[in-house]
Amino acid sequence: MKQYSKRTAIMHWLIFLLVIAAFYFGHQLDESKDGAQKLSMYPLHFLIGDLILLLVLVRIYFRKKDGEPAPANANPLLNKLAAATHGLLNIALIAVVVSGMATAATSGVIDALKANDPSLIPDFATVGAKGYHELFIGILLLLVAFHVVATLYHQLVVKDNLLRRIMIKRFD
Ligand code: HEM
Ligand code: HEM
Repeated sequence: MKQYSKRTAIMHWLIFLLVIAAFYFGHQLDESKDGAQKLSMYPLHFLIGDLILLLVLVRIYFRKKDGEPAPANANPLLNKLAAATHGLLNIALIAVVVSGMATAATSGVIDALKANDPSLIPDFATVGAKGYHELFIGILLLLVAFHVVATLYHQLVVKDNLLRRIMIKRFD
């Protein structure tokens, strides 16, 4: 086996796109001063986040079921680092979503949504869980940056075409 299975590769890129969308809407929510616009964006942000959690869990299940390609590096320490980064990426994704859910549940934003009343939108600066949501987002971004740099190192320096392993297109 030289590549991740087609379905786990599809889920990898779907999660990637959804994380960009969740990040975009989260950022807009934080910046926007327009209450009505915010009320229309919250459900989208929550839905995309929930979908990410579902896909991460399904992908972990199918990765176990379908198996993984053999380790990519000659150096066993680098293989351990790659496996640890992949594990941490999944944990960080789950932590971002769960802290987002806790932010929604404890802030009172659900009441604002139910009443469709922008004046009920809470001040998130006082919501403890929001601090964790931001912290985990920061950790996720650092891990993704490292993950992308490692991929580029493989592509451009080692030249082993590591990207193929996670491509949806089949090469065998
Ligand atoms: C991987 C999934 C997610 C990502 C990448 C993400 C990203 C973000 C970002 C970038 C912000 C702005 C943070 C800031 O103030 O700097 C934010 C805010 C927020 N997120 Fe998420 N989020 C995700 C999932 C969720 C989920 C599942 C929920 C709830 C069900 C949620 C609830 C919230 C809430 C309530 C805010 C505060 C919005 C505001 O300030 O008006 N997030 N998120
Ligand atoms: C939100 C962003 C991303 C997350 C959370 C993420 C997460 C992961 C995870 C958990 C794996 C292990 C395979 C699996 O569990 O199915 C993986 C593999 C991989 N990802 Fe990503 N990824 C992201 C973005 C990217 C990007 C932008 C690239 C390309 C520049 C990329 C390239 C790869 C490659 C090449 C592999 C295979 C690595 C190997 O076989 O050792 N990923 N990714």
